Amino acid sequence: MQNQIQLAPLKRLSNVKTNQAEYRSVVRSIGGYLPERILTNEDLSEMVDTDDQWITERTGIKKRHIAAEGEFTSDLAVAAARVALDKAGLGPDDIDLVIVATATPDRTFPATATIVQNKLGIRRGAAFDIQAVCAGFVFALSTADNFLARGQFERALVIGAETFSRIIDWSDRGTCVLFGDGAGALVLERQTEEEAEGRGVLGAHLRSDGKFSELLYVDGGPSTTQTVGHLRMVGNQVFKHAVTKISDSVRTLASDVGLELSDVDWFVPHQANQRILDAVARNLGLPEDRVISTVASHGNTSAASVPLALSCMTGETQIKPGDLVLIEAIGGGLSWGSALMRM
Ligand code: ACO
Repeated sequence: MQNQIQLAPLKRLSNVKTNQAEYRSVVRSIGGYLPERILTNEDLSEMVDTDDQWITERTGIKKRHIAAEGEFTSDLAVAAARVALDKAGLGPDDIDLVIVATATPDRTFPATATIVQNKLGIRRGAAFDIQAVCAGFVFALSTADNFLARGQFERALVIGAETFSRIIDWSDRGTCVLFGDGAGALVLERQTEEEAEGRGVLGAHLRSDGKFSELLYVDGGPSTTQTVGHLRMVGNQVFKHAVTKISDSVRTLASDVGLELSDVDWFVPHQANQRILDAVARNLGLPEDRVISTVASHGNTSAASVPLALSCMTGETQIKPGDLVLIEAIGGGLSWGSALMRM
C-alpha cells in the first residue's frame, strides 16, 4: 500500500482576504448613472395602499429612478462605465476585465458583462457577471482585486447595475416602495507596491449562508418556472440579519486588516434602508458625518447602490487621495460582506 500523504489540518481563518500580494488594485475613477424617470412616494401612493409618511419613517426613501422602456441593465452599466473611463482618461483598449454585479441581467445568458464589453468596444480580456444580489458589488470588487493582485489582468471595470423595477411585484406594497434602478462603476488598476504608495483595496470579507435563502428571493427562474419571477422578502427578518451580519463582517475585516474603525474616513454602506444604515453606523461607532447616505433619492438599487453612492461623493463629501473608505452590503442568499480601500 502506498504511503498516504498526510495533509495538515485546515487552519481556521476568518475568511478575510487581506492584500499582501505583489500588486495592489488601485481605484482610478468612479462613475454613476441614474435613469431619467423619477418615481416619488406620492406616485406610489396612487398605485398601492401606502403613503409618504410610512415610507419615509420606515425606510428614509423619498424617490427612486426607473429605467425607461427599452433601457436595459447593460445600458445603465455602460453609461456609468463611460463616466468612469472619461474621468480616468481611459479608452476601451485600456480595459482587460469587465465584471458586472447584477441580479437583473439583460438576458439569462450571455453575461451582461459581455454585452457591456461589446457596447464599450472592449476587444480583449474577459467579461463575466457576479450574482450576489445586493452584496454583488462587494463580491465583484473582491474578485477583480484577486485577479489584479495575481497579475492576471491589468485594468478592470467593476460595475454594479440593476433594473429591479423589472422584477418588482408592483402590487406588493411591502417591497415595491423600496427599490430603484441605477448603476455605478469603478476603474480598478493594477499597480506595484511602490506605485500604489499605500493606496488600493486593503482587504475584503465575504460571507454567504444559504440557510436564509427563503428570506429574500425571486420566485422564478429558467430552471424552475421558466419565467423571470418577482422579488419576495420577509422584510423585518432581513432587517435584523442585516444589522448584525454587517456589523460582524466589518469588525472582522478591520481587525484582520489591522485598522481601527476610527481610521475610516468614509463609510459607504449598501443603501437599503436609512434605519439599517443608522443602526450599523451606531453599532460600529462611526460618526454620522462620515456616513454616506443616498437612499432618500435613489432607494435600494441592489448591486448598484455602493458604487452609485461613491459616484455621488462630491462637494463636502469629496473623496481625497489617501482617504480610507469602508463599504459593505447584504442581499439575497443571504450573502454579505465588506471591503476597505485606501483611495
Ligand atoms: N405602506 C404602508 N404599510 C405597509 C407598507 C407600505 N409600503 N409595507 C408594509 N406595510 C405594513 C405591513 O403590512 C404591516 O402591517 P400589519 O402590522 O397590519 O400587518 C406593517 O406595515 C409593518 O410591517 P413590517 O414588515 O413589520 O414593517 P417594518 O418596520 O419591518 O418595515 C421594511 C418594512 C421597510 C421592508 C423593513 O423591514 C426593511 O427595510 N427590511 C429590510 C429590507 C432590506 O434591507 N432588504 C435589503 C436586501 S434587498 C436585496 O438583497 C435584493
